[in-house]
Amino acid sequence: MTAAKLLLPAKTPAAVPVLCIAAPNWAQTARALGPVEAMAAEAQGFKAQSGRFLLLIGKDGKPSRVLFGLGESKASNDVFLPGKLSRLLPRGAYRLEGDVADHRLAALGWLLEAYVFARYKKPQGEAAALLCPQNEDRDHIIMQAEAVWLARDLINTPACDMGPGDLEQAARDLAARHKAKMRTIIGKPLDAGFPMIAMVGRAAAEERRARLLDMRWGKAGDPKVTLIGKGVCFDTGGLDIKPSAGMLLMKKDMGGAANVLALADMIMTARLPIRLRILVPAVDNAISAEAFRPGDIVTSRKGLSVEIGNTDAEGRLILADALALADEEEPDLLIDLATLTGAARVALGPDLPPFYTDDEEMAEALLRHAGEENDPLWRLPLWASYDRLLESKFADVNNASDSGFAGSIVAALFVKRFVERARIHIHLDIFGWTPVARPGRPFGGEAQGIRALFALIRKRYGSHPPRR
Ligand code: BES
Ligand code: MN
Ligand code: ZN
Repeated sequence: MTAAKLLLPAKTPAAVPVLCIAAPNWAQTARALGPVEAMAAEAQGFKAQSGRFLLLIGKDGKPSRVLFGLGESKASNDVFLPGKLSRLLPRGAYRLEGDVADHRLAALGWLLEAYVFARYKKPQGEAAALLCPQNEDRDHIIMQAEAVWLARDLINTPACDMGPGDLEQAARDLAARHKAKMRTIIGKPLDAGFPMIAMVGRAAAEERRARLLDMRWGKAGDPKVTLIGKGVCFDTGGLDIKPSAGMLLMKKDMGGAANVLALADMIMTARLPIRLRILVPAVDNAISAEAFRPGDIVTSRKGLSVEIGNTDAEGRLILADALALADEEEPDLLIDLATLTGAARVALGPDLPPFYTDDEEMAEALLRHAGEENDPLWRLPLWASYDRLLESKFADVNNASDSGFAGSIVAALFVKRFVERARIHIHLDIFGWTPVARPGRPFGGEAQGIRALFALIRKRYGSHPPRR
């Protein structure tokens, strides 16, 4: 199913109206319904409870109207809530009316809810279609949904079918679709130029060799925006092996890469006037006699020596070499996304990824866009004194702190050391997964932060503002 088939042009005739009703408005709304409709609602105990719906049938035996409850309190009301209907209603075309808080986001929520991961299991039934709300940009909503679907597909695909080579193929497919240029650094050049990416990926099977994907798109003179995504196709923890509960979800450890490719898809579809670069270090953090060890010391691309305190802190190592490369051409904006720490989830839970930046203006703007897009993010500090937690006796820096404190901040401080010349750097520590389904957010792989980031990039660079 394509998003375009689920979000019909606003003028499509004969759509069944879906009347959204906040519970406090129910009595008043019920009086305005026809007597038969009001009795049907009464008989079935419909009182506009949150998420309840009622399909009313007309004299001709066809659906005449849907009642949809939004519940009591505004606070508990997700703007994606009406989207729940896309998988509940029978096939057909519907339009939303009534107490809809935000028609644009409700339509987006509809499409995001309609997603199913169908690669290994036949989906049950087809999603219902929605009329694009009046005066909303249909192409834009479709583009966002398709990007989110792409990220989810990549994350949900198990590691057996989403190795470094498969991730490379996904990037190549995207590049081909948008006529972007792409090269893959692998083998000797990777060993020589990106010692930490090569080291982390060293224990992987031959057909799952480590690589760095480097995609470019756009005009040379435009503002340089570079996106980096953590592409750990499976994270066993390495020799510091994870317990089974901690390893179970680790196919999602390429969630940063999936999100970055999805964000790039939006940027290129919208043809934003930027010079875009996407870097994805793609590896397996595997276990073999070749594996890197606790206590090993490696000299990174940037020249900093790094002691391995923990082989399970592999994401920051591969990001660091990619960040160092990105930094060399002094991008205007450098963004990295990574499923970097369990600590981020402990601090903020799975729905609210933290981000880090030194740029106050960007931080404020990103928070605003996150709110406007219903794509929540929360700023955490690059608390400089915690740098001491990364001290190493024998190297410039350790990759992990043994304190166990402030894990997400410490990881952010680690990656920050490899960025010096980029004008602005934003780091996101995402979870990339929805553990319990909510409206517009089905169980499984999830896009996080990319709709907010797209809005930020479009606002800032979308019309060629002067370079800073
Ligand atoms: N991929 C994990 C982080 C992760 C774990 C994200 C669970 C989301 C859910 C990362 O590579 C990792 O293992 N981090 C360690 C770092 C520690 C060894 C310093 C962690 O968070 O425990
Ligand atoms: Mn790890
Ligand atoms: Zn990891």
